[in-house]
Amino acid sequence: MKKITSTFACLCACGWFTFLSCSPPEVGERSVNLIPAPTSVKTGEQVFTLNQKSDISYSDPSLKEVAEDLAAYIRDLTGWTLSIPSSPSGRGKIHLELTPEISGLKDLPAIWGASPKDGNPADEQYSLSIQKKQIRLQATTPEGIYRGTTSLKQLAAGNRSAKGEPIYLPVLEVKDSPRFAWRGLSLDVSRCFFTPEEVKQVIDMLALYKMNVLHIHLTDNQGWRIEINKYPKLTEIGSQMPNEGKPAGYYTQQQFKELVQYAAGRFITIVPEIDIPGHAAALFASYPGLKDAVQLNVDLNLSGQALGALDADDPYTMQLVKDVITEVAALTPGSYIHIGGDETLGLSEDKFIRFVNQTRQFVLDNGKKMVGWQEVCRADITAGDLFQHWIYFKGNMEIAGDGESAGLSPEVMKLLMEMFSKAAEDVESGISRKARAIVSPSTYVYLDHRYLEPSTDPAQADEQERLGMPAYPKQTIEQMYDWNPSTFNPLLDPSQNIGGIEAAIWCETISSFRELQFMLMPRLAGVAEKGWSKVEDTSWEEYRTRLSSHPLLWETAHWNYFKSSLVDWK
Ligand code: ACM
Repeated sequence: MKKITSTFACLCACGWFTFLSCSPPEVGERSVNLIPAPTSVKTGEQVFTLNQKSDISYSDPSLKEVAEDLAAYIRDLTGWTLSIPSSPSGRGKIHLELTPEISGLKDLPAIWGASPKDGNPADEQYSLSIQKKQIRLQATTPEGIYRGTTSLKQLAAGNRSAKGEPIYLPVLEVKDSPRFAWRGLSLDVSRCFFTPEEVKQVIDMLALYKMNVLHIHLTDNQGWRIEINKYPKLTEIGSQMPNEGKPAGYYTQQQFKELVQYAAGRFITIVPEIDIPGHAAALFASYPGLKDAVQLNVDLNLSGQALGALDADDPYTMQLVKDVITEVAALTPGSYIHIGGDETLGLSEDKFIRFVNQTRQFVLDNGKKMVGWQEVCRADITAGDLFQHWIYFKGNMEIAGDGESAGLSPEVMKLLMEMFSKAAEDVESGISRKARAIVSPSTYVYLDHRYLEPSTDPAQADEQERLGMPAYPKQTIEQMYDWNPSTFNPLLDPSQNIGGIEAAIWCETISSFRELQFMLMPRLAGVAEKGWSKVEDTSWEEYRTRLSSHPLLWETAHWNYFKSSLVDWK
């Protein structure tokens, strides 16, 4: 190794452009474009040549699918079908290797947070060595090998010149380990339904950026999206709520199981959310016998919302909740069920607490653990539970202006303000009860903020104006990248109180999969970096350079993305 940088921090400190100028001309300025930034990178001056004769070998049959997935990706990118010897003997040009231990990984920083499948977070660590003659990827588990192949995919795309031409990869040594054990996206399929094939593509996006949780917001006022055998009207009626003609539908239990399996193949855990006791208009429409505990008579006039909440003191209502949780728990091998719990405007606190306590118990009775939006901290949660910390505004209330411009009546503003004013108390209460936070501060990771900076493509002006919640101020991709999950809320000690990090995409303004892609990319890549990398070792300036070569990854998958003018796209 001619040039050695012991950590990514050093890579940045020595100067991105210094580093580039050290590289041989054929490597080019895209050379090390990894997102999330790896924990440690050492670079050399030579190159490995990837061409149609490169083959992929693996040391253990459990790596067969991972090898095939890598070959399929390289085929899409280059047109080459790399051979994978069926009975591996010896080593191919790209060798995937399980080892009991990886040298150098013991010294990496601790991994914080909760594994979504109660696994060992260190299973995701890997070591990638690109030498002049061979690429060697090592990990202790297939999961670690898979994470490493995503680095290889990014390097291949970042260094491809033209389809079918050899790809020159920089000689390097990467040692890599996640910062947080839980790195996810919450996807709202209620406000806009996405087909199983589309959800699989979202899973592919997460996988490409080393995220490991897809939280699916399966129910809300605008639609119930999961088949429940005991209550068929939930899908007969609840999946067909009036919703401005947007895509409707639901997942059969079989389709949902297939999604779980597809995600597992990419080492991603699906966390299903049943959003109750509020956000329940589709439930009330399907089963009018359910009891509503909210007695307010307010015109909500807030996009995507409706007042109403299930009554914890009504036995029929709670039997339905119990049955639904039981069926949903049986659909997922993951450790967590999300019970919602957000924005129960107008519901008395004691009824809310009784509801969460009972629903949490149904989750535990099914051998799962509970996640809820941060309001659940008012109930009797405890160690093992997770609360999703979403109410966090940079500076003042983030609703644009005084609410009027967002179409909110003074009564509704008062209810929202009451809810927001308890947000800090929620977090204090959650951590005093030993629960951990999944950090989802709306300011930084709600990907339904409209983009502020212009696109480099004038044809995107209409999408840019139309997509995203008008109630939020517009934000640049730099503003949404510029935060640190470990420090943004001083109440949270990351090593003790944080379970992980999750972005959310709410779909009130989204009507198609293509529009969803536009809102996810490129900001999802930035969130992934906050979850995996040590934020102190990264900066916007060098991040935007790495990001600039990522469109080829998205275009190879036919994904739409926002062409931010803050990035010099390659
Ligand atoms: C939320 O944004 N209502 C969780």
